[in-house]
Amino acid sequence: MNPIPTIFIGCTALILALWDGAFAGQGPDNRSKLLLNDLEIAKIIRHGPWPPIRQTDPSNRVSGNEAAVALGERLFFDTRLSANGQIACSTCHNPKLGWTDGKARAGGLERLDRNTQSLFNVSGNRWFGWAGHNDSLWAQSIGPILDEREMGVTPDRVAAILRNDPDLKRRYSDVFGTSPDLRKPMDLVVDVAKSMAAFQETIVTGRTSFDMFRDALVRGDTKAAQNYPQSAQRGAALFVGRGQCNLCHIGARFTNDEFDDAGVPYFTGPGRVDRGRFKGIQQLKSSPFNQLGRYNDAPERATGWPTRQVAQNHRTFGQFKVPSLRQLTDTAPYMHNGSLLTLRDVIDHYSNIDLDRIHSDGALILRPLNLTEQESKDLVAFLRSLSTPELK
Ligand code: HEC
Ligand code: HEC
Repeated sequence: MNPIPTIFIGCTALILALWDGAFAGQGPDNRSKLLLNDLEIAKIIRHGPWPPIRQTDPSNRVSGNEAAVALGERLFFDTRLSANGQIACSTCHNPKLGWTDGKARAGGLERLDRNTQSLFNVSGNRWFGWAGHNDSLWAQSIGPILDEREMGVTPDRVAAILRNDPDLKRRYSDVFGTSPDLRKPMDLVVDVAKSMAAFQETIVTGRTSFDMFRDALVRGDTKAAQNYPQSAQRGAALFVGRGQCNLCHIGARFTNDEFDDAGVPYFTGPGRVDRGRFKGIQQLKSSPFNQLGRYNDAPERATGWPTRQVAQNHRTFGQFKVPSLRQLTDTAPYMHNGSLLTLRDVIDHYSNIDLDRIHSDGALILRPLNLTEQESKDLVAFLRSLSTPELK
């Protein structure tokens, strides 16, 4: 059992106890100004607090190290790490575009089949990639460097850059305690990825109007809670109520960190399909960079148990990552293939969902919601309230 959900449930119980206490003796009037009932409030409170407590990654010995963050940031924007000298991580994960590229499907040296994921709050993930084919942020950062369709450099080229650039060489030695001259090229690629991971761990979104609302509910501060627009309140009620969105998009990041089938077509071209999580598990298990392998820095590789346990079964075919719903106003288009342009398009998708497209357990939850125009607008208002406007 993962310790995180246990702590999480513990916190919820505490918060609910505080909630009850906060209203003792205040009379029903204070509450009637809120559009939400007790059950809805209890569910909404579970989507916080925010920001999360910063945690380091035990499998990455430079996680949380400030000098590694600075080195990783440089490398993240460095186009020398590509075969044509023109592509950096930031080409696809552009901070001005919500750490993505604004395109439906990514293009590096070649066009890819999937949408570029944003890097907002990425350190909270358990699995990485739309199909979870990696189990750490640093392992996920190795792939694009070497992948012929993305940046496509060789480990020897990466080693030459670190050894010949005086600034990078000094920074590398400071962070890793040894000269790049003394390390094997593949070990250097992994170290580059670990410093890039340290950098990406710092990409955390700010507090939103939803977070203010949620915290006001925890404090029992009805007056402050009323600053949250009524449309967003109705959307929140739908999200945790009839919409059942919170069965998958749960917790402070609005994701259960698992995979599901939300009825998005998985054809990538004539006769070609994206097998999603089914293939992802296969790639994860066979990766030399997974948590069971020698590059994991955690004592006794104790972080490897989820990877050992995960099993490939037919249900995982065509499943994709349940994405976080924070800061979506910056990260259009949406879904694993970038097929939906706006948040309204996503809501319309759930409203009219085609059950014939769903072939896994998702079908047990998802049903066409047949939302009215007002309900659709309310859900969009709620989703928008999970983003900070300042970043735009
Ligand atoms: C050609 C465009 C492109 C480049 C270059 C690129 N990425 Fe990505 N990135 C993607 C796409 C597409 C995905 C989704 C991958 C998938 O599901 O197969 C992704 C996913 C990720 C994720 C997973 C996020 C999550 O929530 O699971 C991380 C982390 C990441 N990239 C980091 C990097 C780093 C670090 C670099 C540079 C070494 C990089 N990327 C270079 C397109 C790119
Ligand atoms: C059965 C689990 C499940 C339920 C229930 C669910 N979702 Fe999702 N959601 C997913 C999955 C999986 C994806 C990604 C699907 C894909 O790309 O193929 C997704 C994608 C999204 C996205 C796109 C995010 C992005 O970055 O691309 C939004 C927005 C969203 N869901 C909102 C909602 C709302 C609103 C509801 C309720 C009406 C809801 N979801 C119900 C599983 C679920």
